[in-house]
Amino acid sequence: MTISNYLTNEHRECDNIFAQAEQEVANGDFKKAEESFLKFADETLLHFKKEEEQFFPMFEELTGSSDGPTMVMKHEHEQVRGLMGKMAEAIESQNRDAYLSLAESMMILLQQHNMKEEQMLYAMADRVTDANRANELISKMEELTL
Ligand SMILES: [Fe+2]
Ligand SMILES: [Fe+2]
Repeated sequence: MTISNYLTNEHRECDNIFAQAEQEVANGDFKKAEESFLKFADETLLHFKKEEEQFFPMFEELTGSSDGPTMVMKHEHEQVRGLMGKMAEAIESQNRDAYLSLAESMMILLQQHNMKEEQMLYAMADRVTDANRANELISKMEELTL
C-alpha cells in the first residue's frame, strides 16, 4: 500500500460517516446522529494525529521545510477542530438548522483540505519514498490511538 492510498482511504471513510450524521440530523434522528457524529470526530481526530505525529514530520524531513505546506495543514486542522466543537454543541441542543449550516462549512473546509493533501503532500510523499519507508510510516501510523 502507498502512503497516498492509506491516508486517502481514511478521508473517504470520514466523508462517509460525516454524510451519514448529516442525513440523520436532517431526519431529526438525534440519537443516531450523535453516535455517527462522535464516530466522525474520533476517526477524523485520529487521522489528524497520524498526520501531525508521523506524516508531517516525515514530509518536513524529506522536503527540508517545516514552515510550508505542513504549517498550513496544521492550521486547517485547528479550524476543523473548532468547527467540530460547535457541531457537537448543535447536536447536544438538537439544533437541526445550526448543525446543517455548520456541516456545510465543515464540508467545504474538509474538501479543500483533503484535496490539497491528496494532490500535493501525499502525492509528493509517494514520489520520494521507497516501499520500505512507506511501510514503516504506515505501521507507525497504525499503532496510534486517540
Ligand atoms: Fe490533514
Ligand atoms: Fe488528511
